[in-house]
Amino acid sequence: MGIYLAGAAGRKPALPIAFEGLEAAAHQVLDPELLGYVAGGAGDERTQRLNVEAFAQWGLMPRMLVGAAQRDLSVELFGQRFPSPIFMSPVGVLGACREDGDLAVARASAVTGVPMFASTLSAATLEQVRLAQGATPGFFQLYPPNDPELSQSLVSRAEAAGYAGIVVTVDTWVNGWRPRDLSSGYIPMLRGLCLENYRSDPRFQELVAAQPAGQAGAVELTWAGIFGRPTLNWSDIDALREATSLPLIIKGICAPEDAKKAQDHGADGIICSNHGGRQANGGLSALQCLPAVVGATGLPVLFDSGVRSGTDVVKALALGARAVGIGRPYVYGLTVAGAAGVEQVLRGILAEADLLMAVDGYAAIADLVPEALHRVAGPA
Ligand code: FNR
Repeated sequence: MGIYLAGAAGRKPALPIAFEGLEAAAHQVLDPELLGYVAGGAGDERTQRLNVEAFAQWGLMPRMLVGAAQRDLSVELFGQRFPSPIFMSPVGVLGACREDGDLAVARASAVTGVPMFASTLSAATLEQVRLAQGATPGFFQLYPPNDPELSQSLVSRAEAAGYAGIVVTVDTWVNGWRPRDLSSGYIPMLRGLCLENYRSDPRFQELVAAQPAGQAGAVELTWAGIFGRPTLNWSDIDALREATSLPLIIKGICAPEDAKKAQDHGADGIICSNHGGRQANGGLSALQCLPAVVGATGLPVLFDSGVRSGTDVVKALALGARAVGIGRPYVYGLTVAGAAGVEQVLRGILAEADLLMAVDGYAAIADLVPEALHRVAGPA
C-alpha cells in the first residue's frame, strides 16, 4: 500500500520490482567479467535455468474465507526465532560488486532481521561483517581449506566474533566448468579480490611466508593452493564437529543418502542447494531434490537455488524447507543501490510471500504443507 500511496504522490520505487528488471539494471552497472562471474553458471547453464523453472511446475491451491488477515511468517532456526523465513545465502564477491559490499549486506541484515550467511570470500573480515550485522544473528560460511590449521583458525575466529552457526559448503572443493569465466580468464580472487579473511589470518600469513622470497602474487598463489580440499570427506565433517560447539550446517546436499550421512556425522542442519547451478550442469533442479532431502532425516532443511520471488519462497516452504535462501536477487540489489537496494529486494520478496499467503488463505507457515501444492498441468 505504501508503494501505491507514494506512486499517487508521483514517487516510484528506487529499484525495479521484478527480478528481470533488477538483473537488467545490474547488467548496466557491473563490468562484463564480474557480471559473467555473478550471473553465470556451469556448462550451458541448463541446470541454472532449471532451478528457476522448477518453481513454475508447482501451484498453490487458493483457499477462501479462512481468515488469513493476520499472518505469522516467523520461524525458529537453531534455537533462535527469526521474523521471517528467508536468509541471505553466502556470496563471495559482494565486495567486488560494490565498495564495502559485505558491510552493506550486513547492515541490510541488521535492519531487516534477515540473517546473512557470510562467505569465507569477502572484502571485509568476518569480524567486521559480524559487527555490522548488529542484533541480527549471523552465520559464517566456511569453504574448508586444504589446511586443517587454517580451517580451525577460521572456525575459532567465527566463534569469537559471535556467529550463531557454521555453514560448511561441501559442493565447491573445486570450481565447476564455467564457460563465461573460462572465456574471460576471470576469477575475482586471483585478481586479489575478496581475500580479507585469509589476509587477516595468522595461519594464512604463515603459509604466505613459506612462499619463495619475493614471489609476486604470493597471497593469491597461496590462496589458490589451499582454497579447495580435494580429499574433502566425512571425516572432515567429524573434525569440524569436534572443532566447534556452534550449530553445524552442511550446504550443498541434494541426495537423501547424503542428508542421512550429515545427520550421522553430527550436523545440526542441511542446506539443500546446488550452488545456483554454478557447479554441475546437466543435473536436477535443487527444488526437485528438496522433498526427499526433507524426508530423509528429522534435521531442519534450508533451501536455496533458483529463488526469485515471494511465491518461490512460499512453494519451497510448502515442500518442507525450514527457511529459504536468496542468492542473486540481493546481489543485484546491492550492485545497483547498496544496502538500501538489498533491503528493498528482501522486503519485496517478503511482502510478496506474505500477500500470496493472504490472498490464497494460508495464515501460518505450518499451513503450507506439500498437499497445498499441485502440479501445474501442461497445455491441453
Ligand atoms: C555464490 N554461492 C556461494 N556459496 C557459498 O557457499 N559460498 C560462497 O562464497 C558463494 N559464492 C557465490 C558467489 C556468487 C556470485 C553466486 C551467484 C553464488 C552460492 C550461493 O550461496 C547460493 O547457493 C546460490 O546463489 C543460489 O542460487 P541463485 O538463487 O543465486 O540462483
